Amino acid sequence: MGKNLIGFYDSGVGGLSVLKVALNKIKNKNFAFFGDTLRMPYGARTDEEIRDYTLEAMGFFKDLGVDLSIIACNTATSHGLREAKTKYNYPIIGVVEPGSFNAIERTSNNKVALVATKSCVESGVYDKVLKDMDPSIELRSVYCPDLTLAIERGEFGEDHMDAIVKKYLDEFGDYDFDTMILGCTHYPLVEDSFKRIFKRQGKRVLMVDPAYKTVLDAINILDLSQEEVPNRSIDFYITGDIDKFRYTMEKIVDLSDFDVKFHSVKIEDLEKYKK
Ligand code: DGL
Repeated sequence: MGKNLIGFYDSGVGGLSVLKVALNKIKNKNFAFFGDTLRMPYGARTDEEIRDYTLEAMGFFKDLGVDLSIIACNTATSHGLREAKTKYNYPIIGVVEPGSFNAIERTSNNKVALVATKSCVESGVYDKVLKDMDPSIELRSVYCPDLTLAIERGEFGEDHMDAIVKKYLDEFGDYDFDTMILGCTHYPLVEDSFKRIFKRQGKRVLMVDPAYKTVLDAINILDLSQEEVPNRSIDFYITGDIDKFRYTMEKIVDLSDFDVKFHSVKIEDLEKYKK
């Protein structure tokens, strides 16, 4: 018998974009969130580092007794999902397949744009998954390091954010995509900036936030037959500065109806989960 708990893992606050969807859709589970803020941004890390961090987080969640873990990070999904599923014998899902599926459902001209981290773009994982699902899809990608960091710091001022988003969207040049995958879980937190820029440019672009389909996939795997939990708990496990995480978190999601606790995690205590 599990602890009726779902785990969410990201390098930082990005995973909150997935947690938020789950809080609305899953009323009979408690939640654990692992934020590896000490070692973020993952987008600038090596493939091996990200794989190891993912194995650590998934091992941590296994010991916590979660029923299912969501790797709520595109970069960690790209480099760690396959290995984590091989190593651990409990349900673990990522965000790339659900995001790709959604993009294919939405596009009409088969031209898709991806914004993600450097490491996620360079892994080529979205290209592979999209083309496996539908070989006629064309994908172009841009990585947006300044955007991830601004969001992590909680710099949500409209003009500031719009300027950063525009800088990266300009990199797509005259590529006439009709669908854009927000392929870093930080980016859906500023989806309005993307929409504003497209509107100003007179472009009609459908946005894909992989969180929705990911949470539906989790619902399909989980046993959700239990009663609703009256005071759902959310335990945050943070490797870096808890106050900094909390500062940005409070700008993103209102958790006043939940029983929230913060825990500090030491990197040395995660070593044992590595390969
Ligand atoms: N939020 C993460 C993602 O979805 C990674 C951000 C980072 O640490 O670079 O890829």
